[in-house]
Amino acid sequence: MIAIPRLGLGTFRLQGRQAIDSVGMGLELGYRHIDTAQIYGNEAEVGEALQASRVARGEVFVTTKIWTENLGADKLVASLKESLRKLRLEQLDLTLIHWPSPHDAVPVAESMQALLAAREQGLTGAIGVSNFTNALLAQAIDAVGAANIATNQVELHPFLQNRGVAAFAREHGIHVTAYMPLAYGKVLADPVIGAVAARLRATPAQVALAWSMAKGYAAIPSSTRRENLAANLGALDLRLSGDDIAAIDALERGERLVSPDFAPAWDQSLRRPAFPTPDNAGKSPPR
Ligand SMILES: NC(=O)c1ccc[n+]([C@@H]2O[C@H](COP(=O)([O-])OP(=O)(O)OC[C@H]3O[C@@H](n4cnc5c(N)ncnc54)[C@H](OP(=O)(O)O)[C@@H]3O)[C@@H](O)[C@H]2O)c1
Repeated sequence: MIAIPRLGLGTFRLQGRQAIDSVGMGLELGYRHIDTAQIYGNEAEVGEALQASRVARGEVFVTTKIWTENLGADKLVASLKESLRKLRLEQLDLTLIHWPSPHDAVPVAESMQALLAAREQGLTGAIGVSNFTNALLAQAIDAVGAANIATNQVELHPFLQNRGVAAFAREHGIHVTAYMPLAYGKVLADPVIGAVAARLRATPAQVALAWSMAKGYAAIPSSTRRENLAANLGALDLRLSGDDIAAIDALERGERLVSPDFAPAWDQSLRRPAFPTPDNAGKSPPR
């Protein structure tokens, strides 16, 4: 099984110059794991930043994700070749099914087998899934075997800890990648995280990312600012105590920020949200 670098750089929402600059600064500062997706519309910019950097191809881990319209056996490989062209790469390190096919239009087995075929053709070093529930991950395992699934990339942060999903993946030797690890900035104002940060002379973002990594997940925060990009890398050196981790564990509140109308029937994180909020009411963009 491939090793996914513990800390990566997300690129959702970043367009044009901002995408080039964020990835360029990230690579300069030491990020060696970049997360993009076909639907982000920035693969070409990520490719430009990778090419402009002095980082050797073998030193940086690049992930893309196949959009739902490209999941069919007749489309997946061609779409991945197009991603590679935009990224100016010969091979991805990791390629994920971005979302389960809405209304199961393309069966999980079909897209997983197409993805495996892409790996066998050398288009990607590893394959995996994103936004898969345990039931869907079980189908993917049935289709290609757990050993061929590198990760399930899911929303995971102190307010949505997705413990059942993480446990199921771990049981099958599948790595968890935590997307939106800062809950798009929301965790930074949390008083418990703030108190841990103050005591450790760290930033709240570093504490949230260190918590994620201490749990064994890869975390992929995004930032457009050099100072935040640099500070977030510092999370790699931050060690939390068992008590700090337990205090952050207690922040679980089932607060899901990404749930488009075609999302699968989610596994509960730990508790249900007490009531629908604007953030979990299904209005988030489908990323
Ligand atoms: N698979 C999927 O379906 C899926 C869905 C969503 C996201 N993702 C991936 O996960 C990545 C991360 O998610 P995300 O970008 O939505 O959210 P996030 O990483 O949780 O939060 C990003 C936000 O936090 C701010 N931020 C970052 N570092 C900070 C710091 N040190 N101090 C203060 N603010 C800070 C950023 O603002 P500044 O720019 O001002 O720093 C930005 O507004 C995405 O970019 C994408 O690659 C995947």
